[in-house]
Amino acid sequence: MKPRTLKDGVYWVGAIDWDRRLFDELIPLPDGTSYNAYLLIGNGGTALIDTVDPTMAKFLVDNLRELNIKHLDYIIVNHAEQDHSGTLPIILNLYPEAKVIATPRCKDMLIDLLLIPGDRVQTVSDGEKLSLGDKTLEFIHFPWVHWPETMLTYLREDAILFSCDLFGSHLATSNLYAVDEAIVFEAAKRYYAEIMMPFRLVIQRNMEKIRSLEINMIAPSHGPVYRKPNFILEAYRDWVYNPPKNLVVLPYVSMHGSTKAMVDYLVSALIDRGVGVQQFNLPKADIGKLAMALVDAATVVIGSPTVLGGPHPAAVYAAHLISALKPKIMFATIIGSYGWGTTIAQQISQILSPLKAEFLEPVLVKGYPREDTFKALDRLADEILEKHRKHGLA
Ligand code: FEO
Repeated sequence: MKPRTLKDGVYWVGAIDWDRRLFDELIPLPDGTSYNAYLLIGNGGTALIDTVDPTMAKFLVDNLRELNIKHLDYIIVNHAEQDHSGTLPIILNLYPEAKVIATPRCKDMLIDLLLIPGDRVQTVSDGEKLSLGDKTLEFIHFPWVHWPETMLTYLREDAILFSCDLFGSHLATSNLYAVDEAIVFEAAKRYYAEIMMPFRLVIQRNMEKIRSLEINMIAPSHGPVYRKPNFILEAYRDWVYNPPKNLVVLPYVSMHGSTKAMVDYLVSALIDRGVGVQQFNLPKADIGKLAMALVDAATVVIGSPTVLGGPHPAAVYAAHLISALKPKIMFATIIGSYGWGTTIAQQISQILSPLKAEFLEPVLVKGYPREDTFKALDRLADEILEKHRKHGLA
């Protein structure tokens, strides 16, 4: 990995992590990721924007050596999470003259998480500017993308927005820029679904802060740089602002085939009615794909058998995940079978209650589904279509 030039005096100096397959010990990374750090050299100062994951510190240090950087005035920390700040202690040792620039909340977090001495950190207020001579940095406080301390950094002269995790993608690629937009769209949507969607309403409010900015390039902390910013801005507008689509997401688990027979019937009934469906067999599903489907879904139907009187643990996990990701869903329900008694509807509706979605009448059957079960599933499919139509989605 070598430094790469974005503009005169603006370099990518980060690291590509081709092999990483799990983030936060939770999120699958099918395509790896990158930790993007950027170096800005002005005629009156030099600044590094973010560092890299500590496992890849060597690459950042080598890149700074390659550019013969002997002196660093500032290290801008847009975000305190360790995949971007974790190499900060090493860089501060290498450049003892460097001052860290961060929001006040980020300063506290750097002290807590990385034991950075407070006197090395200079806080900046929202809208504050920093001159590097012929380059001017403007700091835009943009909390909750996806931690409370985050900010974006705008390079005025080149109109480059260094957007922190916002607009990022977990995608390891040799392309510095988003060249293959279909591939980048998939990775960016997965990233939005897993990382940003829970903060959709805050992002809506804060997007106003960048609406009037001239932006030639968006340089996020993960994945390729956008030379056509509208590509990702328009995608975010859809994901963040637009109503959900005529789509049912159906995560399910089945032990002996009874719940699966109900799932198969309902999926077919929905397709017959022109309602889109995405079905996920939970024990084998990629939860990233499930999260992506939730970006657009108007309705979630969870399929679960009854285990020890309650939902199957895989269904409980899915319900908790859906609740935590806070998608735009408007309707939810559960279908499934039981042997002798069940509380799955109560338990799943309780887990999903923070979403404030309307809970439709569940379809539960004792044993294997029969004619009346399939009629009930037809009724459910009719109801979903009617609800989607009523809200202008179908
Ligand atoms: Fe990529 Fe929130 O760190």
